[in-house]
Amino acid sequence: MFDVEKIRDDFPILKTNLIYLDSAATSQKPVQVIDAVDEFYKKHNSNVARGLYKLAEEATLQYEEVREKTRNFINANDTKEIIFTKNTTEGANVIMRGWGEKFLNKGDKIVTTILEHHSNFVPWQQLAKRVGAKFEVIDIDDTGLLDETDLEKKIRGAKFVAVSAASNVLGTLPNIQKICKLSHENGAICAVDGAQYTPSMKMNVKKLDCDFLSFSGHKMLAPFGAGVLYGKQELLEGMDPLLYGSEMIRSVSIEKSEWAELPYKFEAGTPTVDAIVGFGAAIDYLNKIGLEKIRTHEESLIAYMLKRFQEIKGLKIIGPRDVKKRGSLVAFTLEGVHPHDISAMLAEDNICIRSGHHCAMPLHTRLGIPASTRASIYLYNKKEEIDQLVESLQRVKQIFG
Ligand SMILES: Cc1ncc(COP(=O)(O)O)c(C=O)c1O
Repeated sequence: MFDVEKIRDDFPILKTNLIYLDSAATSQKPVQVIDAVDEFYKKHNSNVARGLYKLAEEATLQYEEVREKTRNFINANDTKEIIFTKNTTEGANVIMRGWGEKFLNKGDKIVTTILEHHSNFVPWQQLAKRVGAKFEVIDIDDTGLLDETDLEKKIRGAKFVAVSAASNVLGTLPNIQKICKLSHENGAICAVDGAQYTPSMKMNVKKLDCDFLSFSGHKMLAPFGAGVLYGKQELLEGMDPLLYGSEMIRSVSIEKSEWAELPYKFEAGTPTVDAIVGFGAAIDYLNKIGLEKIRTHEESLIAYMLKRFQEIKGLKIIGPRDVKKRGSLVAFTLEGVHPHDISAMLAEDNICIRSGHHCAMPLHTRLGIPASTRASIYLYNKKEEIDQLVESLQRVKQIFG
């Protein structure tokens, strides 16, 4: 059984009268994660992969255990394919510099979509500029889904395709399995941005057959600073690292340096060990509840939100209406009210909600709006909070006429 009140008990920050509807920006953290970090510092604090004393071995063991948990969480073949980064953005940059700049050439085609967060847009746009490649962007249809005809047309002849598994504005869930397949049929590499997907939907990289997957721990209960880049081993082997120095080295002489084996080749400098330990606790927490149950809970809340939003005059929902085709958020505009005024007024009612372009300026330009307001949920949200959101939005509407 999914007991939301029991779950909420695990989140100290929710014991106040806060209504947190901004989990797409970052999730709140359960006490199990906070305690894991606390315990690490109290009992095991040491740098990893360096010292030979007991404490250092414990810290290294804990760090590597999380790598195995992560491998299992996304069903990768080997822990060599799991690179710890700070966040999704860093993962995209590792791909851009390490694979893109090495293997793409002038005239090649790079494809992404208009749905993307800047983190899955700007690296590819810049990559195209650096190597002289063409940069093409798949459009959406009127419902906010990717335009299938445009998708097939643009992927034809592409060398690299980047797509997010869940949009952070429209919520859209593109058919990433199909996109990976189509990319491969065209000889392209397919990189998936899982930032909004992995927190509550099962990511199976083997089944999906994506070449890269990047995601952020902080959006799925973990501390800031724990991110993951998955890459197929043969691709990672051939890539150059983004960062150089420290433990990513096998040997160094005045003439040359050689890199450590995977995944260490990509982990230069002291990693965010505390955050990774917390990330391990976050994976345990999610596994214990079960992603399927979390997703079912979210679907019912999103369906409820979509229904209740229809009661608000002048509120326009952006993105797909079918709850099966969207993730854990709903973005909207309210006629006659600037999105920033909405979130400022909701803040007076202790409702945390985000307004702006959500790091997706090309998408907002495409939609013909400068900004939108976004309510995003996670496993700890409940129906009553949506009722309060609707009540506050009605108040905003009354005040602004
Ligand atoms: C779809 C998507 N991709 C990438 C990112 C960037 O994540 P991070 O800031 O953790 O690198 C976000 C953040 O909101 C996102 O929603």
